[in-house]
Amino acid sequence: MGGTALVGIQWGDEGKGKVTDLLAEHTDYVVRYQGGNNAGHTIVVEGERYALHLVPTGVLYPHCTPVIGPGVVVSPPVLIEEMDALQARGVDTGKLLLSGNAHLIMPYHLELDRVIERRLGKNRLGTTKRGIGPAYADKAARIGIRAQDLLDSKIFGRKLEVALKEKNLLLTRIYGRLPIESSAIEDEYLAFGIRLSAHISDTTHVLHSALDRGDHVLFEGAQATMLDLDHGTYPYVTSSNPIAGGACAGAGVGPRDIDRVIGVCKAYCTRVGSGPFPSETDPADAEILVDVGAEYGTTTGRKRRCGWFDAVAGRYAARLNTLTELVMTKLDVLSAFETIKVCVAYQYKGHRYEDFPPNQTIFNKCRPVYEELPGWSEEIGGARKAEDLPKGARSYVERVEELLATPVSWVSVGPSRDHTVKMGYG
Ligand code: GDP
Ligand code: IMO
Ligand code: MG
Repeated sequence: MGGTALVGIQWGDEGKGKVTDLLAEHTDYVVRYQGGNNAGHTIVVEGERYALHLVPTGVLYPHCTPVIGPGVVVSPPVLIEEMDALQARGVDTGKLLLSGNAHLIMPYHLELDRVIERRLGKNRLGTTKRGIGPAYADKAARIGIRAQDLLDSKIFGRKLEVALKEKNLLLTRIYGRLPIESSAIEDEYLAFGIRLSAHISDTTHVLHSALDRGDHVLFEGAQATMLDLDHGTYPYVTSSNPIAGGACAGAGVGPRDIDRVIGVCKAYCTRVGSGPFPSETDPADAEILVDVGAEYGTTTGRKRRCGWFDAVAGRYAARLNTLTELVMTKLDVLSAFETIKVCVAYQYKGHRYEDFPPNQTIFNKCRPVYEELPGWSEEIGGARKAEDLPKGARSYVERVEELLATPVSWVSVGPSRDHTVKMGYG
């Protein structure tokens, strides 16, 4: 049995946490391969709500081993706090594995994320201010500090000194901030290393053995396709590769280790932070979507921007990720509308784009071309089988399948595990 990748196909917050949790029931390993605690995955189990940021969703099942792969950036105090909070609620985190190659988010990365955003002013990205971009920048510049460095006080001290020399110049001379003392960080981080030492391991080897044994491995994407550093709406993106291909680099497996790629989409779109969003709704419809869909960020609490389903971006994501299937979440939220719009193309300077446009200017300035579909105006939270869904809801799902040329295997009609409808495929 090969691995499964699960990715968001929009701008994040599609409900990946809920869907990963559903799949984890039949999974041996759940692996995060990119991003950090900019992610916020909400899972509702028997009325209990869990908001996971760094710990992979599989932690909620005792049979599952949660793995944080080499491609993730990790803040040790955030990880420890999240593990402690889970333990306090009776969730065992003893099996969690953290790759020794994962890079660390350090206090100066947090400070830099804040001051860079401030300096960008109206051009700011609206980051989660979790230090993600600066940590990945150091990784690419080859001056990052990795989880394994926490286990060797000499190496850690040396790397910290090198990093701080440069960072303190930046912080004091460019951004007018106070320097960061290495002694304050060093003791604290070495203590985090002692605490995490039982979890730090060669996760790449562990996953190779698991895949070779035929265990089922699920690669849990954070963020989403349109926030991908190389393929999303640059520069309004995150600093990693959430796409399915990113699972290979970020977890250390090969393309042939993944034979199922699940794309998670909301029945509409949301986006947090700045950047173009062609199918953004008018304020009145956004208010309904925010209210009914409780569209507030799990990580920062920010109100999410809302849009209609964007089939142009969806088709692009389906191809980029080579999706084998889609899971559509939050269909219940659309019961609030008499008619529902779907963006089927973009219009720019008299040209109609059905494929994702080749440059940023077009994407920034294009207008959406909508198709308007009839709604169903009835509650669907109780639906458990495809036949329980009203005709309008089924037609909506079928239209999305057609536009993305990808079958929908499950539809989610509420936040809990049981709010799920199995469709024709999967
Ligand atoms: P993720 O980052 O992709 O895991 O998504 P988030 O957890 O940030 O945001 C999705 C939100 O929608 C969470 O609050 C979920 O509990 C909730 N949710 C997931 N699926 C459904 C659904 O089908 N209907 C409704 N009403 N809420 C859902
Ligand atoms: P999950 O996994 C939605 C957005 C931020 C900002 C941009 C860059 O819950 O879907 P960063 O802090 O990553 O440098 O911010 O990316 N962003 C997300 N938006 N869901 C997320 O994660 C996100 N993680 C980052 O709002 O626009
Ligand atoms: Mg989220």
